[in-house]
Amino acid sequence: MMRGLHLLSLLLCIWVSLATGRRLATGPEAPLPPAERREVYADGRLFDITHRVTKDTPTWDSKVGLGQFLSPLASIKNGSVVNAAEVKMSVHTATHVDSPAHVFDKYADAGYDVDSLDLELLNGPALLVDVPRDKNITADVMMSLNISKGVRRVLFRTSNTDRQLMFKKEFDSSYTGFMKDGAKWLVENTDIKLVGLDYLSVAAYAEALDTHLEFLASRETILVEGLKLDNILPGLYTLHCLPVRLVGADGSPTRCILLK
Ligand SMILES: *[C@@H]1O[C@H](CO)[C@@H](O)[C@H](O)[C@H]1NC(C)=O
Ligand SMILES: *[C@@H]1O[C@H](CO)[C@@H](O)[C@H](O)[C@H]1NC(C)=O
Ligand SMILES: *[C@@H]1O[C@H](CO)[C@@H](O)[C@H](O)[C@H]1NC(C)=O
Repeated sequence: MMRGLHLLSLLLCIWVSLATGRRLATGPEAPLPPAERREVYADGRLFDITHRVTKDTPTWDSKVGLGQFLSPLASIKNGSVVNAAEVKMSVHTATHVDSPAHVFDKYADAGYDVDSLDLELLNGPALLVDVPRDKNITADVMMSLNISKGVRRVLFRTSNTDRQLMFKKEFDSSYTGFMKDGAKWLVENTDIKLVGLDYLSVAAYAEALDTHLEFLASRETILVEGLKLDNILPGLYTLHCLPVRLVGADGSPTRCILLK
């Protein structure tokens, strides 16, 4: 009797799945659940500190943002068997790294492009620090932060994060960044070789070029710009940044994560 019931329920199961299968195959497709997009993974131990690239991503000196950056090379809707997109944007879009080639043509000519950046420096222990909200990052500010010798990677969180500047498509030149003397002080007095910041440039707008020249002259410093540092406590993490190997490029978009 029990065996008979089992058999019956097994048959019922097969029938139900066949019937559902047929309905799925012929009827209107059930809507898919929305794709999940996350900032934090692994029970709060892994933070994505990369900004999404969207048409509203702010770009240097622009009021209108990035605009359309993806276009189809092939699309299933047009009869192709695959979807394949093409990307067109500056290599300094959203979260990205700068190579020495960015501001020194002699370094560009000699091949110091993003592909030559030290992957060991882009991956390792990193300090997330908050800087004073009422100043750009000057030598005095750098001094006041008391960053210990031996610290090689620092992510500087500024009022840019409070002001949500990376989420506003209109470029805002009043963002906080390094002044030239702050960069010089960092290069001369600390062991920091990776500098990260939370807007499109690590350098304040007013001294953008001079500050980059200070940082990149020795070819020992990597700049990571456009980081997303919202909702993360200051402190020590493991940083991973993996820029795309664009040979000949002076910068490159990068995915960056922090691990607790
Ligand atoms: C499909 O082809 C048409 C005509 O060539 C073109 O205008 C359209 O952009 C294509 N759409 C996609 C999604 O590829
Ligand atoms: C840096 O050290 C000085 C002197 O010890 C102290 O007064 C100051 O609060 C420290 N600043 C930070 C940001 O820890
Ligand atoms: C930082 O410098 C920019 C110019 O690059 C300026 O507009 C802004 O007011 C300065 N920020 C602060 C907090 O002084």
